[in-house]
Amino acid sequence: MAIKLNDRFLGGFVGEHELSAMDDAVKAAHSKLWNKTGLGNDFLGWVDLPVDYDKDEFVRIKAAAEKIKKSCDVLIVIGIGGSYLGARAAIEFCKSPYYNNLKKDTPDIYFAGCNISAQATEELLSICEGKDVCLNVISKSGTTTEPAIAFRIFRDMLVKKYGPDCIKDRVFITTDRKKGTLKAFADEMGCETFVVPDDCGGRYSVLTAVGLLPIAVAGISIDDMMAGAAAAREAFKDCDLANNDCLKYAAYRNILHNKGKKTEILVDYEPCMTMMNEWWKQLYGESEGKDNKGLFPASVVFTTDLHSLGQYIQEGERLMFETILSIKDTGSTVVVPNDEANVDGLNFLTGKTLEFINSMAYKGAAVAHNDGGVPAMVLELDTRTAYDFGYMVYFFEMACGISGYILGVNPFNQPGVEAYKKNMFALLGKPGYEDAKAALEARISE
Ligand code: PA5
Repeated sequence: MAIKLNDRFLGGFVGEHELSAMDDAVKAAHSKLWNKTGLGNDFLGWVDLPVDYDKDEFVRIKAAAEKIKKSCDVLIVIGIGGSYLGARAAIEFCKSPYYNNLKKDTPDIYFAGCNISAQATEELLSICEGKDVCLNVISKSGTTTEPAIAFRIFRDMLVKKYGPDCIKDRVFITTDRKKGTLKAFADEMGCETFVVPDDCGGRYSVLTAVGLLPIAVAGISIDDMMAGAAAAREAFKDCDLANNDCLKYAAYRNILHNKGKKTEILVDYEPCMTMMNEWWKQLYGESEGKDNKGLFPASVVFTTDLHSLGQYIQEGERLMFETILSIKDTGSTVVVPNDEANVDGLNFLTGKTLEFINSMAYKGAAVAHNDGGVPAMVLELDTRTAYDFGYMVYFFEMACGISGYILGVNPFNQPGVEAYKKNMFALLGKPGYEDAKAALEARISE
């Protein structure tokens, strides 16, 4: 079992009878998900993905990753939202937040097209100078503005560097199986393509080619990752609340939400979780935040943030609960050295591992926050392997679907993300948006 839910820091906030009272709602949500009878049921491809994926494409992903490793120093992954967060989270979690600076035999990996920052784009272009570069462009629709702009810019860079014939060898495209401008471009230029399945939304797509190709390029075992996800799928088939920690997590967060805890903070103690937090926030924010409902997903990395948001969590408005993700064995053995002079008075820590000290910080903070009125669940993760990552991804995806159904929303659509796009297109003068442009300009003029 890669993840275990420990509810010791929920005592006094949630009674056992409250968990049992969720049984019917949880069973109903579980049945909707597994029998595909709930809202958004055409986006449930991720449920069986760990055991029912395209094996031929999986082999092609590994072969393309080897080709990319041989032909470049730098891979630029172009995508936004669900089309980049999972891969970035996996690389930082399984390898390191310092992945690009590690001694390694795999290319550096940078992410572009996840903003429209001129500065960030310019910096990346300069990083590519004098290096061999490949692109992995990832967009299900093929028309998302941010990655489309980045693709133009980095494609232009490639053509200037290697000439127009390089596109078929240096650009790898992950998009819709049949339709869209990216697919048409790939076919015309002869680029290798990978598929974003029709029945997997962006935020549920990390275990498809969307995440797997960049993850494999980083030298992470995608076989192990799928094995972890498959083990989680097997474990969470059971709809018995008492024996299913994924269901318990979904139930507890709804119980706490109903008690006025409107914000869930994912708390970690390892910087390698920072991008996992971002992936998790997208998963829960886009899945639940609709119809004027939803828990607000926030995140912190302690102990760093104990010196910033820690104050608010301890004594600010009582609107949050914590979900602490604790990695039991980080694989690290760094210890505090002795100091004869004991200048800082810390010799009582001599010989102790940082892992041990970090675990005491977690326990101390959890009790302090409990005393300040903040309930906490702990998700105990064994290690930080590819297997654990796959298991954790599936745990959170399944809990999110169940939780969204309990909340009464469609966890698999994202109607709200279109609003800013319409305004941006109008302001930029996209043909067809003339009336909206005039109305918006009147609203934003001083
Ligand atoms: O979860 C989602 O569906 C979104 O975050 C999308 O992944 C994101 O908007 C990018 O879309 P696309 O892959 O079509 O470029």
